[in-house]
Amino acid sequence: MPPFDLEAYVARSGAVDLEAIPWAEVPTHPVSPETVRTLRYMQDIESHTIIYLRKLLATRAVDEPEIATFLACWVYEETIHGLALARFLEAAGYPVGPRSQPRGREPLLQWLESRAMSAVSGLWPDFCAVHMVWGAINELTTLTGYRRLATVADHPVLSDLLERIIRDESRHFFFYYRQAERRMQRPAPARVARLIVDRYWSPVGSGVQPPTELEFLARYLFTGNEGRAAARKVDETIRRLPGFATVKLLEAWMDRYVGHSAGVNGGLNGHGQH
Ligand SMILES: [Fe+2]
Ligand SMILES: [Fe+2]
Repeated sequence: MPPFDLEAYVARSGAVDLEAIPWAEVPTHPVSPETVRTLRYMQDIESHTIIYLRKLLATRAVDEPEIATFLACWVYEETIHGLALARFLEAAGYPVGPRSQPRGREPLLQWLESRAMSAVSGLWPDFCAVHMVWGAINELTTLTGYRRLATVADHPVLSDLLERIIRDESRHFFFYYRQAERRMQRPAPARVARLIVDRYWSPVGSGVQPPTELEFLARYLFTGNEGRAAARKVDETIRRLPGFATVKLLEAWMDRYVGHSAGVNGGLNGHGQH
């Protein structure tokens, strides 16, 4: 992997071009209820990025110029993803309504967690490694999920949109991964990051969306042979990080919560079966 070039990253950063998407064509192709449900989940997660950023900004990460610059571009791009998915849903006839729970109000436990994270990061400069590996796992899961969604949804306009979003997610992943790799060269941050991931990691969107939605999405995108292979690839990539060779992530989570079913519409084992 080549070294990360922040200047090149900033130069390439930008909003997905919403005007380039043929929105009028969206209703001319079928959109399954499963695809709508998946898009609703992803739309909510993308829009939640700014709340997640609030947590990150309360930590030492904000003092690192490289990370601060990245986060500014990142939150902009993720916000546009949220808007783009909302626009797709609306064009398909499923407009996104208001959220039942305001985003700004954090449950007490999450609030305490944020405070604890902020305090630990203030005391220990290497804590940033944890955020970076966390970000790498989330971005890789997201981009893999979008790739799977483009395949199973089989909707040309959605594929076009997702391809553009995936390009952003790949850049996000690359940043976090390179940062995590560099920061975990020393054993102490690698050990702590691994400990925290082992103890607390669950797929992106946990705690934001109900568990039933996450399990639905996992079944829709990551079951069947191709889905499983995609999940395995996520795990294998993260296992190449220092100290993470034996980490159990997406596949282990799937085994525990979803199992080996063929998928909600029974046709996710290969191309042309949905
Ligand atoms: Fe995104
Ligand atoms: Fe992203």
